[in-house]
Amino acid sequence: MFNSIKLKLVVWFLAVFLLVFAGLEIFLYVKLESLIVNLADEHLTSELETLANLMTVEEAHGQLETEFEELSTAATGMYAEKLSGHYYQIISTDGKVLVRSPSLSLGNASLPLIQGSTTADYRTVAGPGDTPIRMVTQSFPFSIGSLTFQAGDSIEETYELLSSFRNIVLVIFPLIFIMCGLGVFVVTGWVLRSLKSFTLKIGQITEENLNERIPEEGLVDELRPLAVNFNVMLGRLEGSFSRQKQFLSDASHELRTPTSIIKSFCDVTLGRERTANDYKETLKKVGETVNRMCDIINRILVISRLDNKTIDFKPVRVDLMDIMRDVHRLIEPAAEHKDVAIRLSGAGAVVKGDREGLTEVFTNIVENAIKYNRPKGSVNIHVSEESGNAVVTIEDTGIGIPKEEHEKIFDRFYRVDTSRGLTVGSGLGLSIVRTIIDSHGGHIDIESTPGEGTTFRVYIPLPSDKGGAR
Ligand SMILES: Nc1ncnc2c1ncn2[C@@H]1O[C@H](COP(=O)(O)OP(=O)(O)OP(=O)(O)O)[C@@H](O)[C@H]1O
Ligand SMILES: [Mg+2]
Repeated sequence: MFNSIKLKLVVWFLAVFLLVFAGLEIFLYVKLESLIVNLADEHLTSELETLANLMTVEEAHGQLETEFEELSTAATGMYAEKLSGHYYQIISTDGKVLVRSPSLSLGNASLPLIQGSTTADYRTVAGPGDTPIRMVTQSFPFSIGSLTFQAGDSIEETYELLSSFRNIVLVIFPLIFIMCGLGVFVVTGWVLRSLKSFTLKIGQITEENLNERIPEEGLVDELRPLAVNFNVMLGRLEGSFSRQKQFLSDASHELRTPTSIIKSFCDVTLGRERTANDYKETLKKVGETVNRMCDIINRILVISRLDNKTIDFKPVRVDLMDIMRDVHRLIEPAAEHKDVAIRLSGAGAVVKGDREGLTEVFTNIVENAIKYNRPKGSVNIHVSEESGNAVVTIEDTGIGIPKEEHEKIFDRFYRVDTSRGLTVGSGLGLSIVRTIIDSHGGHIDIESTPGEGTTFRVYIPLPSDKGGAR
């Protein structure tokens, strides 16, 4: 359950929200409190200064005592009201209270006595009636000695304001917290719903309905690339499945012909009594057809191993000239039989490749060059190097291949119609050729003029560190 994206998102969001909001509230509370206290302090300072200035002036006029009397009795406004929350008092050096604002004396109260110094001392203390007050204390020199002036303002209302701020926050905060939590829960649920339907759709795709695609419309932006890539992968799988099916059906079709030939030979021969020679002849034909079948089966096996990548290519340094000499030797009897001359020219070209694989490539191409040639024709093989590639050119004087067939001849089981009557073949040779060349990082080109001949050019990249063959 704790592995759910939805739960993780909600928990993370709420944890971050809690931290940020709680921090913000505490910061605001502290800031507000210090703002209010600073304002009170400013007010007290100006009050204290006014009092001290007044006393200095009165002292200059020799009326200090009279002023003490006046200040204790005749004050007006906020100081005239009993315990109004605004107070002052003046204390002599020996700690005697000389002046008390009427707001204090009327309530028979006094401010807490604090030893004054020449710098202002601000503090929050319990004032008259145990109400919290902000108080400033400071001493000033006078002819009768140093006098300590004290002024205090109630900050009860400030505390009430702060506590109502705290109460409001305590109510609003959990409400916002719950609303946001629910919001995240609903939004993630909504987003993840598309993921759920996406997963459901993927689960429904089997080899039976590989043609179906995940609908990309209506998906959230984050899921759309996933759907696009998934659809591309489905396309590839579908292509690969249908190629496999096609291959299987083509292979069965290709094998059915020789099987039918063998069956009809056997049926006809066994239809009546035959001479030993007849049986020999039939067995010879059956043997030839079986050879053809073996050929097809071997090629199918090579293709399936190439497809499944179970052919273990061992890249070593090989000289293509050596390979072409081997191919030449191997194929010469067939060429002589068809009265086709093979000529090999060029210089050594060392590449990094699989000897067996490359021999298979050139055997197939040269075999075709002889098979689709005319009697007394020729095949010219040339090995060279050209802009970073080893190039093997195989040029024949055969029947040629029409331009529109150039790509198709590399398809599996594809044979050009004109060649069908002339020769036997499975149409697999060139598809094997191309797969092996591709796996060597090379490519194959074709040029042909029907009725005149065909030239195949195979390019295999030269190794970056050119050296001798091992
Ligand atoms: N040198 C060539 N000249 C003319 N046609 C060619 C030549 N090489 C290939 N082709 C055409 O391309 C087709 C495919 O060649 P590929 O080698 O794949 O098959 P195949 O020769 O028919 O059979 P396989 O090689 O499997 O026995 C051939 O059937 C032929 O029609
Ligand atoms: Mg061939």
